[in-house]
Amino acid sequence: MASLSTGRPEAAPARPNVNDLIRRVGELPPLPQVAHKALALIRNPDSSMAELADVLSLDQAMAGLVLRWANSAYYGLVHPVSTVRQAVVYLGQSTIQSLVLTASVAAVMERPAPGYGLDRGELWKHAVGVAAAARLVATRFGRQTAEEAYHAGLLCDIGKLAFEVLLRNVDTNSPEWQGRPFSDLEAAHFGIDHASLGAEMARRWNLPRPLVEAIAYHHRPAQAGEGAILAAAVHVADAAVMALGIGIGRDGLQYALDPAASERLGWSEASFGGLLDRVGPLVAEAEAFIRSK
Ligand SMILES: [Fe+2]
Repeated sequence: MASLSTGRPEAAPARPNVNDLIRRVGELPPLPQVAHKALALIRNPDSSMAELADVLSLDQAMAGLVLRWANSAYYGLVHPVSTVRQAVVYLGQSTIQSLVLTASVAAVMERPAPGYGLDRGELWKHAVGVAAAARLVATRFGRQTAEEAYHAGLLCDIGKLAFEVLLRNVDTNSPEWQGRPFSDLEAAHFGIDHASLGAEMARRWNLPRPLVEAIAYHHRPAQAGEGAILAAAVHVADAAVMALGIGIGRDGLQYALDPAASERLGWSEASFGGLLDRVGPLVAEAEAFIRSK
């Protein structure tokens, strides 16, 4: 990725404006149609679990993925399930929503992100780790919030998919790309960071506002409003997964944990240590599952 030196000062790279970046977001694979239908049903309080199972069953690939995940060690069901209906009944609607998102996101996040120094699967592994950790962190705020924190954790770095295309043409080993948090460098070079770009993608997917906010502010949780708890949970979870060295690439070198997030969650250093102990095995299970495909 290092650029050849010609002895002449290099021309500053053209800085794409936000609209250019959003256009590139439009070029990314969209969430599968079935995922949109399932999410719409889940958001509708009048929909039934049977309707959700029927929508999922229409898409063989999605149904297969939901069943594989439902039967994986990650969810730890005592009795294996063989139909989507069973999976919905055993796991509940909010967990199925997480499964649908996990399966949908896997399709776009498994690819390598060389601009971030991430090999194939690393971005995905990081996302699953942050999701699992955010769910644990948010458990004290109730099951619904914990599931929402899982969704926010899973999607928090989705904006990197757009940036990584642009970063392939940038020498990120050059001095101007060192010594500052990578999010700051994205903003300095592209006019927007991956968190804001990811939030725009989530907005286009019609995801709920607190989730969009949590993605937008996962590196600056103190600035979040409606999604403050989710943003704080994802921020702490992200720091934990970075501390475990999971899928950090270039992004993790300057990662600072905002104490305001821990305070918001009633979180202590001791609980952070406990989180590290619990997240490691969850990520290992998810990884074993991903590798078994
Ligand atoms: Fe991030």
